Amino acid sequence: MKYITVEDMGKITLATLKTDNPLNPLNIEILREIGEAVSNSRNVVVLNSEGRAFSAGADIKNFTKMNANMAHRFASEGHDIMNGIASADVPVIAAIHGYALGGGFELALACDFRVSTPDAKLALPEITLGILPGFGGTQRLKAIAGEGRALELVSTGRTFTGQEAKEMGIVNRISTDHMEEAMKLAEELSEKPPLSLKYAKALIRSPPDEFYEDEKEKFGVLFESKDSKEGFDAFLNKRKPKFKGE
Ligand code: COA
Repeated sequence: MKYITVEDMGKITLATLKTDNPLNPLNIEILREIGEAVSNSRNVVVLNSEGRAFSAGADIKNFTKMNANMAHRFASEGHDIMNGIASADVPVIAAIHGYALGGGFELALACDFRVSTPDAKLALPEITLGILPGFGGTQRLKAIAGEGRALELVSTGRTFTGQEAKEMGIVNRISTDHMEEAMKLAEELSEKPPLSLKYAKALIRSPPDEFYEDEKEKFGVLFESKDSKEGFDAFLNKRKPKFKGE
């Protein structure tokens, strides 16, 4: 891959974005690589960036060359990639520093968890460019932060800090050492039974009308796994469970 370095750290996959611009503006090629890195991973993924930003958003330089059809195609492919991350079998953690703006923030919203530095700057500033978020950011921000906040942040495009994002529930954890904190969370998740994690993600992030049947079915299936038996036994015998993903 040209823009993403993938490091297999045993139980964790570390995917690092680095582009020619330290603000890491995104184009479709970069997004495809991120999607591929996530879908190829069988472990918890920590997605982070080098440079001055997680990402300052879609490459505005490319926007100037796009007509309505091209912009529609760009958003459609962007949606597919973000949905791929949101529905991946493994948990994905965005480790944010510097800026997470526009498509960069939408990418973080498509991830399952966000860990940020307190002083990071986040925004959906598209409205200030005369457009709107195009990678599912309006819906994801609404689901995470509530309708009132999403409407305010999308309508004003205002920038807020990682600290404020934590207070709004948009960011799960903050730390001046965001990578250490993200790896700590990844470690914690990697000790959980993978099938339960996968189903928890599918249930919590699936549309409400599918929710009830889905939950019952998955609850049942989990009872057939060795990990659930291990979990029950460990609890009853007051010991730490050892999950094997079976
Ligand atoms: N797309 C393309 N190029 C971008 C970019 C983006 N999203 N964000 C920054 N850049 C480029 C700038 O044009 C500049 O290029 P240049 O060196 O050729 O002039 C370079 O990156 C550095 O950016 P600059 O604005 O000078 O840095 P800064 O530290 O003053 O400001 C930001 C940083 C992130 C606040 C500012 O660049 C910004 O607001 N970027 C746009 C964010 C945005 O609207 N994203 C949503 C897109 S839909």
